[in-house]
Amino acid sequence: MNKRVEEALNQQIEKEASSSQFYLAMASWAENQGLNGTAKFLYKHSDEERFHMLKLVKFVNERGGTAVIPGLSTPPSEFESLPNVFSLLLEHELKVTESINEVVDVCLQEKDYTTHNFMQWYVSEQLEEEALARTILDKIQLIGGDKGGLYLFDRDLENASIQPENVGNQAN
Ligand code: FEO
Repeated sequence: MNKRVEEALNQQIEKEASSSQFYLAMASWAENQGLNGTAKFLYKHSDEERFHMLKLVKFVNERGGTAVIPGLSTPPSEFESLPNVFSLLLEHELKVTESINEVVDVCLQEKDYTTHNFMQWYVSEQLEEEALARTILDKIQLIGGDKGGLYLFDRDLENASIQPENVGNQAN
């Protein structure tokens, strides 16, 4: 496997793993706030990020590279508020999109069209994740401090997911 592409993919492995930990920290915080629907959504989201990481690990190894399993820094255990959680989540996803675009760019520079093709799945995934994060954030901002609204929001989020069919599936 081309060394620059391998390095870019390994950096992306670290980003997906960190995303999984970050959302896991958010899920745990939400659970302790009694926001069970939000917690469930975030736990699922954390699993999805782990799936994104695994898919990359397997791809790198199958293509003759060596996947590097990263050590991770501790994510925060406290968050200011629910709007704060989702604005951090959106901000984080925007950074992930940027980094996926960088991987795609390296693939083009190195003329690695197979990896370029593989990365298109991540490009579409980011579109969906960003759109969902924006929709959720808009809803929270509409609710403001309304307790009844928050209750309904939390209940609805329990059933929302980006791509539920991915969670628990074998990475390929
Ligand atoms: Fe796998 Fe949400 O980036």
